[in-house]
Amino acid sequence: MSGFFITLEGGEGGGKSTNLRFIRDYLRQAGKPVRMTREPGGTALGERIRELLLRPEQIAICPEAELLLMFAARAQHLNEVIEPALAAGEWVVCDRFTDASYAYQGGGRGIPERRIAQLEQWVQGDKRPDLVLLLDLPVAEGMARVGRRGPGDRFERERHDFFERVRASYLRRASQEPARYRVIDAARPLEQVQAQIRQVLDALLAAQEED
Ligand code: TMP
Repeated sequence: MSGFFITLEGGEGGGKSTNLRFIRDYLRQAGKPVRMTREPGGTALGERIRELLLRPEQIAICPEAELLLMFAARAQHLNEVIEPALAAGEWVVCDRFTDASYAYQGGGRGIPERRIAQLEQWVQGDKRPDLVLLLDLPVAEGMARVGRRGPGDRFERERHDFFERVRASYLRRASQEPARYRVIDAARPLEQVQAQIRQVLDALLAAQEED
């Protein structure tokens, strides 16, 4: 028995939290056992690392340390939560995963992709998300939405061009592997965004029925 591994990705202000709840509820209504989790985080260690990474004040963190902390949290998360849940047949829905490392530490901070790929291979082996939903929207729009929420965390304080690189990196990865990625136009009104997500999930559930 093996579950299904879905990750939700995107820049800031794309409505990730609202749509995560939507996905969880939709899959549960379809009778699937859903495990919601997030990165960085998802375990006691991961949540401590998350605090270090996201707090805007405090200590300096260089890009390499940032990347390694993301993967330290990920190693624990896979070991403690994701792999056991998948082995038990659960549908794991994860708020961000390794694509965020490629987009933020790779695209945003400029760490070479091959470095990230080395860590990915080491920490994950062949394990990859079965489906990546990318909530895509223009950077200015996302930043305006996030701006309305308050001062922001360490990443949200980055500049416009950082997020342009993040977005470009996500879109490039999605276009390289269209079978595993679905790009959702998150600039549209919420009902339309959720209609797009529903379509993807319906296709997935139908394909699973056939298996
Ligand atoms: P969020 O989940 O609330 O969006 O916050 C997580 C932040 O961490 C977000 O700005 C993206 C960033 N992040 C990375 O930079 N690399 C990663 O590998 C992950 C998982 C998240």
